[in-house]
Amino acid sequence: MTFAQSPTELQPPTNPLEVEICGIRFKNPVLPASGTFGYGLEFLPFFDISHLGGFCTKGLSPKPLKGNPPPRIAETAGGMLNAIGLQNVGVRNFIEEKLPKLRAYDTKIIANVFGYSLDDYLEVITALNDAEGVAAYELNVSCPNVKQGGTQFGNDPKLAAEVTEAAKKKATRPVIVKLSPNAGDLLGVARAVESAGADAVSLINTIVGMSIDIYSHRPRLAFATGGLSGPAIKPIAVRMVYEVSQVLSIPRIGIGGIATAQDAIEFFLAGATAVQIGTANYADPCAAAKLVDGLEAYCRTQKVARITDVVGAVKLK
Ligand SMILES: Cc1cc2nc3c(=O)[nH]c(=O)nc-3n(C[C@H](O)[C@H](O)[C@H](O)COP(=O)(O)O)c2cc1C
Repeated sequence: MTFAQSPTELQPPTNPLEVEICGIRFKNPVLPASGTFGYGLEFLPFFDISHLGGFCTKGLSPKPLKGNPPPRIAETAGGMLNAIGLQNVGVRNFIEEKLPKLRAYDTKIIANVFGYSLDDYLEVITALNDAEGVAAYELNVSCPNVKQGGTQFGNDPKLAAEVTEAAKKKATRPVIVKLSPNAGDLLGVARAVESAGADAVSLINTIVGMSIDIYSHRPRLAFATGGLSGPAIKPIAVRMVYEVSQVLSIPRIGIGGIATAQDAIEFFLAGATAVQIGTANYADPCAAAKLVDGLEAYCRTQKVARITDVVGAVKLK
């Protein structure tokens, strides 16, 4: 026997965690961060990656790179330093070996792109344009431009705008620019990439740091300095997301020391529409999946109809 359904019963239930960023719908705003989640496939023994809104791949370059010599990671109070040196399989290997397997999963793949010249970025984007299954590109601009005396693209508003504009011209998919906290003029860089056509920004990348072994008198990383990540950088990242949110109208994706739903909500309140989770994946490979469940519980218990209702909702008085 069938029963007539009322119009409200016919409506699909709304998903409180769904967000839209640069025209892409994410089933939830939780994305593992580049360099801390491999190519996604490495995490399949731990959980079904379809549970995630998406994830960012390890940074991709035109050719495979071996990275820096070890030691490349050092634990610090409340975080870690890394100088991996952007080791990766190269964009063509990613397209041929990783992407076909990833297409089986219902999650948005954001390809993280980097280069040591403008041409490097454009070569990676051109290769990815023809590959099915990538939702967006994230430009890692925390790289030295070897043709411009080694100034990092992301530390200079003009260079950051140049790479953004060239990437936008080439890209057939939305371009997210990942801002560097090491830029002296973060807001200048943020404004410059928005004017150059960026569809969204993500922030923050790691903060340059150093740690020295007091017995050998040697730096604890072979590269001497490295990028600091983890809980130690969270308050800096929340402040930067808040300040950038005051001056940009394109969406912000918050990154830096996020391990729990509570951490993520701080970033939403500061003005982020989604979050990335990095170092926490090392402590618990299921951290991102648990974070999704924690956000669901927050919406249910705090009577938040949609997670987007809390975006930028920080009360200053
Ligand atoms: C080991 C390691 C490798 C990383 N590799 C990349 C990378 O290839 N591209 C990139 O844009 N960011 C990279 N990052 C930066 C992270 O994506 C993230 O921005 C940063 O770690 C801050 O977030 P967290 O405190 O949650 O780790 C890397 C971070 C770590 C710890």
